[in-house]
Amino acid sequence: MRTIAVLNQKGGVGKTTTVTNTAAALARMGARVLAIDLDPQAHLTIHLGVEPDSAGPGAYEILTQSADIKDAIRQVRDNLCLIPTNVNLVGAESELVSVVGREVILSEAVETVEDRFDYLFIDCPPSLGLLTLNALAAVKEVLIPLQPHFLALQGFGKLLQTVEIVSRRINPGLKVSGVLLCMYDSRALLPSEVKADIEQFLREARGTRSAWSEARIIPRLIRRNIKLAEAPSYGKTIFEYEPGCNGAEDYAAVAQYLHKQTLTAAGLPADEIEAVIARMGELGLQSDSRFAEAFVRGKAARFGASRLRNELARRGIERELIDEALAGECTESEIERARSVLHGRFREAPTDAREWARQARFLQTRGFAPDLIRKLLKEPYDESA
Ligand SMILES: Nc1ncnc2c1ncn2[C@@H]1O[C@H](COP(=O)(O)OP(=O)(O)OP(=O)(O)O)[C@@H](O)[C@H]1O
Ligand SMILES: [Mg+2]
Repeated sequence: MRTIAVLNQKGGVGKTTTVTNTAAALARMGARVLAIDLDPQAHLTIHLGVEPDSAGPGAYEILTQSADIKDAIRQVRDNLCLIPTNVNLVGAESELVSVVGREVILSEAVETVEDRFDYLFIDCPPSLGLLTLNALAAVKEVLIPLQPHFLALQGFGKLLQTVEIVSRRINPGLKVSGVLLCMYDSRALLPSEVKADIEQFLREARGTRSAWSEARIIPRLIRRNIKLAEAPSYGKTIFEYEPGCNGAEDYAAVAQYLHKQTLTAAGLPADEIEAVIARMGELGLQSDSRFAEAFVRGKAARFGASRLRNELARRGIERELIDEALAGECTESEIERARSVLHGRFREAPTDAREWARQARFLQTRGFAPDLIRKLLKEPYDESA
């Protein structure tokens, strides 16, 4: 599970908007996502359409250890779960004052559900108190949204220092992975200057041991877009509220960028997987990153083309589309497998057209692709018989 705290102690910079829509975009791509609302204002909870006071156990109950994290997780969309919050959370900080290890309560809880999700996003409050410490202890990465105006970098040093302290004392390996420029207005002069300043600042840290030495400005900016400001009051993500707007486009691109990083870090060919997802889109299939990963992995060996074919058929995808999607995908190992299946049933190579059709049909019912069957049954048989 990739774990990301979205943090900036400055208020109103786009933290909650970023968590909501990035999490939603990844979930729509097929990743399993958990979002935690760690801000007593409960904006994330509301933005995802959950009424904070009706929400049952949430972040407060986890931190005060009065509920198990599993009971606080609510599914709010396909592939997207939320740990909601309510105003009780304000009290958590003082209630926990005498609890030993109070910074790592969330981290310990999150570990127990690690297997259930591909991504965790934590929406932090605009402060650097105990709630934020719990977020920083529970993740490996910090994503900092910035609004590029002239005070953008004020407080930036303090923010990085906090991350640094947590990485030294509580959570070794914690890194600032990215800075996301939000509410970007390209017509204003200042944003590009602020951007250049941040770039320079981050460049200077490269190769040092600081917690932000690998941080990058995310190459996709979030443009100022009124639809992003309207969506929360309807309890909708931008993809539900106005799927064609700039805001939806920008957050989808950020999610794709993050997912590409995830794949690359796992040693998977991100470009190839992206191409499969794009192809699924062209064929009118629901894009599904997990499936595309399995598909590309399969080409590498394990998940054979015939299993993919069965899997696609199970999802109700038409045969023609499957053939098209899998065209040219029969690998040598797949042919080898088909050959041994065939030889388990037929000892002789087909000598006439009828026999050929019989064997071809047999392979087809076993899920092998027409292309592959033609390739296999055309080969001289005595070689391998
Ligand atoms: N790109 C954008 N264009 C226009 N409005 C935006 C954009 N991003 C966020 N907003 C709006 O700006 C306001 C602040 O954004 P958001 O709530 O995401 O910030 P935040 O950092 O979470 O704030 P807080 O510190 O209070 O938690 C919200 O009303 C939000 O809808
Ligand atoms: Mg917020």
